[in-house]
Amino acid sequence: MFLGIETSCDETSIAVIDEDYKILSNIVSSQEEIHKEFGGVFPELAARAHIEKILPVFNEAIKVAGITKHDLEAVGVTYGPGLIGSLLVGLSFAKALSYSLSIPFFGINHLEAHLSIPLLTKEKILFPALGLLVSGGHTELFYIERCGAGRSIAKTLDDAAGEAFDKVARLLGLGWPGGPAIEKIAKTGDAKAIRFSIPKVKSKRLDFSFSGLKTAVYYQLKEEGRKEDIAASFQEAVVSHILINTQKAILETGARSIIAGGGVCANNRLREEISFLAKERGLVLYLPEKNLCTDNGAMVCANLLFKIKEGQPASSFDLAPFSRISP
Ligand code: KG4
Ligand code: ZN
Repeated sequence: MFLGIETSCDETSIAVIDEDYKILSNIVSSQEEIHKEFGGVFPELAARAHIEKILPVFNEAIKVAGITKHDLEAVGVTYGPGLIGSLLVGLSFAKALSYSLSIPFFGINHLEAHLSIPLLTKEKILFPALGLLVSGGHTELFYIERCGAGRSIAKTLDDAAGEAFDKVARLLGLGWPGGPAIEKIAKTGDAKAIRFSIPKVKSKRLDFSFSGLKTAVYYQLKEEGRKEDIAASFQEAVVSHILINTQKAILETGARSIIAGGGVCANNRLREEISFLAKERGLVLYLPEKNLCTDNGAMVCANLLFKIKEGQPASSFDLAPFSRISP
């Protein structure tokens, strides 16, 4: 049995999988209630909440999986990128477990974990693949030659897509996290009401930019317009931007499949459009269930087990968390 711990941002999540990548438990404790009054994640409070939640979440993950901690063979933990204080909680917990149970521990990259979800479905992944990661902290495209061998080919030059959803939701006076809130009111809005221009990034053709859209919403709000229409039109512009760049990347790289991941992939409009694109181009699409798009321990387990099956070495106890740049 393999344990995966995720505490990089505002979700305390721990999962257990077996040696066939089957999920036995995947407990997610969200801190939504704590951060919603700030309209975003408050790092110090996030770290404190992880300290409170990590042991109960661990106990529940073990219980739901129907095992004891002595059945664990290895532990994986997100060590970056993310909020340092939050990462430290998971990392310290994983090291303590590893030491006390005499099992190896592996530091797992959060972005790799998001894109490891297809391993859990036991489908054979078709390579080369295009990795599309759209979350609150990242919006990035990867060319993935084979499992474990991916390189970044484009990223956002400013805000991440999820961050743009969160900031625009705040401008519209909606709740946090912004993605689900915008998606909800957009359902009754007219997506063609406002023509937000799709961001064009000239320097590197595949890169993303979302901050201009956010500013456009700010100015739009000063004029007439229903919030529902603004939300729907904004959502449409974000989805189009992601789709256009993904399509370009497919043509450029000759990728045969798309591996999508990250919280924004829970968005129904994006799901519809990416599914349509894959179908139209004859590509295989690996699109996780919505609850596996947002941060969770199961994705950490998936990457952990892959590393073990590959014979990769465990991490050492002096492994430190990292916030942005991979060491
Ligand atoms: O992957 P994730 O859980 O955490 C990070 O690694 O950042 O992504 C969280 C982000 C938030 O910005 C949230 O607003 C966005 O994903 N999100 C959505 C939806 N659900 C979550 N964005 C658009 N539509 C959604 N349904
Ligand atoms: Zn994430």
